[in-house]
Amino acid sequence: MAGILDFVEINRLQKLFQKYQETFNIPVYLLDKNKNILLKFPEDAHQPELDMEPLILKDSCIGYIAMPSGNSESRANLKFITTNLSEIAGMGYEIESLAGEVVRNYEELSLLWRFSSRIGADLNVDNICNILADEVMNICPSTNISIMLVSEVFHDTFSISHNMHYNSLVSEQQDKILFLFPKVSIGTDASRASTMILRTDKGLIEYTFTKKQALTVCDVKKDGRFEGFTYPVTSLLIVPMVVEDIPIGAIIASDKLSGEEFYSNEIKLISSIASECAVSIKKALLFGEIRSILFGTAEAFSFAIEAKDTYTYGHSKRVSEVVAAIAREAGLPADTITWIKLAALLHDIGKIGTPEDILHKEGILNHEEMERIREHPFIGSRMIEHIQRLREMAHWICHHHEKYDGTGYPSG
Ligand SMILES: [Fe+2]
Repeated sequence: MAGILDFVEINRLQKLFQKYQETFNIPVYLLDKNKNILLKFPEDAHQPELDMEPLILKDSCIGYIAMPSGNSESRANLKFITTNLSEIAGMGYEIESLAGEVVRNYEELSLLWRFSSRIGADLNVDNICNILADEVMNICPSTNISIMLVSEVFHDTFSISHNMHYNSLVSEQQDKILFLFPKVSIGTDASRASTMILRTDKGLIEYTFTKKQALTVCDVKKDGRFEGFTYPVTSLLIVPMVVEDIPIGAIIASDKLSGEEFYSNEIKLISSIASECAVSIKKALLFGEIRSILFGTAEAFSFAIEAKDTYTYGHSKRVSEVVAAIAREAGLPADTITWIKLAALLHDIGKIGTPEDILHKEGILNHEEMERIREHPFIGSRMIEHIQRLREMAHWICHHHEKYDGTGYPSG
């Protein structure tokens, strides 16, 4: 416990003691909790024997008030001053606590604001997890920090670089056992941490997933729930990432570089961004699902057209693959390539308005038939422009038969 000077400023104490001395007309002493004199009034007072009364705050001694030993009146004055000063120290303590709370809330809000700004509208789970690991390392620099995702979530965002353990676990996956896979690992043991897979139904992970709250362990060797990691660990912090009451992953930090334990304010800050991150990952997965439905629908449309026009069967899919390869070679952004692929799948959708006898006609088409065929880019673009998100794509579809020498259609 701190001393009286932590709760009442020395200038204020000096004024108070001057007042006490003037009021009671007897020397008054302030001592610290080790009974060393901090203040006395008058300053030249020297008394061989003193009566002391402890200043108590939250059941701890934070100093003493003393007066020369003497009569009962002096003891009563001593009691009065001690009670008075204890109350003043109590108010100082409350102010300190509130100020600390304000600072902690400010830190939390600043962190959340910065974290949200960094994630922004990013819907890439790798990026989100990298930012999270970086922020956790800023909050409490540790030997290792891993962002682990539950197998079902992880495999929705699965990248080929992480598949080394997947095949061996597929059979167990079928029995509905969930695992935590490392999405991002940073720190001195990052390479070993990135190979670690943990079960969610055992040990410390089970505890955090069941309770849905953070857990810190000062010495894992003394905790019977610890089942070993792929790298050496002494102290550990596990923070579950929960969205809509379901844990979808966990942040695991091990051994702070300072050698200190994980503090409650750090755990609170990390828990806040863990929740924020879980929501962003859920959004990213939903976006991926919607995109997959969109692509599935586009493919279904292209199959429907090609079923009508067997001559071009598989054409849209092949065009989609070729344009994606060209776009990648041209260094276009991944998002743009996605839209180009989608446009390629849908580029002939306007053939839905072309009579089948023209599409299936063997031999040379007459002028009128050719004009009907030439309508399909325009019809396709009219169909697509009704979907606001795909409006730009309508322009691409409309002009997919244009040529550099101006002999194409519909604009020529
Ligand atoms: Fe076409």
